[in-house]
Amino acid sequence: MDLLEQLNGLAAKLEVRLSQAATEAELESARVDFLGRKGRLAELMSHLRELSPEERPAFGQTANAVKQKLTAMLDARRAEQEQAAESAFLASFDPTVPGRTLWNGSLHPITLAMEEVCSVFRSMGYEIAGGPEVETDFNCFEALNMPPEHPARDMQDTLYISDKVLLRTHTSCVQVRTMMSRKPPLAVIGPGKVYRRDSDVTHTPMFHQIEGLLVDRRVTMADLRGTLTAFVRAVFGSGTRVRFRPSFFPFTEPSVEVDMSCTRCGGHGHVDGQPCRICKGSGWLEILGSGMVDPAVFSAVGYDPEEVSGFAFGLGVERIAMLKYGLTDLRMNFENDVRFLHQFPV
Ligand code: DAH
Repeated sequence: MDLLEQLNGLAAKLEVRLSQAATEAELESARVDFLGRKGRLAELMSHLRELSPEERPAFGQTANAVKQKLTAMLDARRAEQEQAAESAFLASFDPTVPGRTLWNGSLHPITLAMEEVCSVFRSMGYEIAGGPEVETDFNCFEALNMPPEHPARDMQDTLYISDKVLLRTHTSCVQVRTMMSRKPPLAVIGPGKVYRRDSDVTHTPMFHQIEGLLVDRRVTMADLRGTLTAFVRAVFGSGTRVRFRPSFFPFTEPSVEVDMSCTRCGGHGHVDGQPCRICKGSGWLEILGSGMVDPAVFSAVGYDPEEVSGFAFGLGVERIAMLKYGLTDLRMNFENDVRFLHQFPV
């Protein structure tokens, strides 16, 4: 057959071949067959030399035109295939279904409050101390000036594990552990879980406390006042007022309870003419218990009460968290509802 005719016939042959090429690989093999280095077009071109000089230009031009045509056919078919693949992909799912949301983790309000309190005291030079939640009777009561028959033990509803082993009812045991393992001077805070047989709207059987203890020579009530005032203002704002009320704890003498001006009414006792519901109209909120370490406690841990003095304090973390974040129900802290937990900043 005439070479020109054969050239012109290539497009029709490719047409047939493409109509059967369903996959990308089949398309590629068609390209190699027709346009590859040893393909049909190349084969026909190799006969160029056999033509007379007059025939060559026409043949060359036709070959170029055919090459362009074949290339265009292959490109069009490839585009068609890609289009079909994309349509099939889009048809395989519903693009209007909302995507999966990634939850950002956040810290629990108790953790946030705990970290904030600890960081205030750390900035004042206090070290973090700890102890186990399962404690001895000695560390929890006896060394803290509550001998077996002491009526103060009635203040605590204790969960006993055995006669002398119990779940700690307060973090004050950290005081005992610290003093028994170290020499003064020292300043520590002990955050942790405590347990009591108590469960109602305002009490949970497990809750969190932070204990503080400072022991040195000539520590006075003025140090206690200054430290705790600075602490309350660091957490609740520099305008917060603080008052110290005489109180009683077996392990401190004298003892005080510390109140601060109400976070909601600012100490006025009322909001919009109504009694404030956070402070019940008093303008004050009790925030922690404190006092000068009782000499009997120093004696129990082997410190000389004539040589050293100190102050201690204990606060409830749930209460701080509730006041700080305006929580209204203590139990929210323990229900693990992500809609609640999600509201706290990382
Ligand atoms: N341990 C006390 C309680 O659980 C709180 C407390 C009061 C701790 C006075 C202290 C303190 O260190 O000095 O109620």
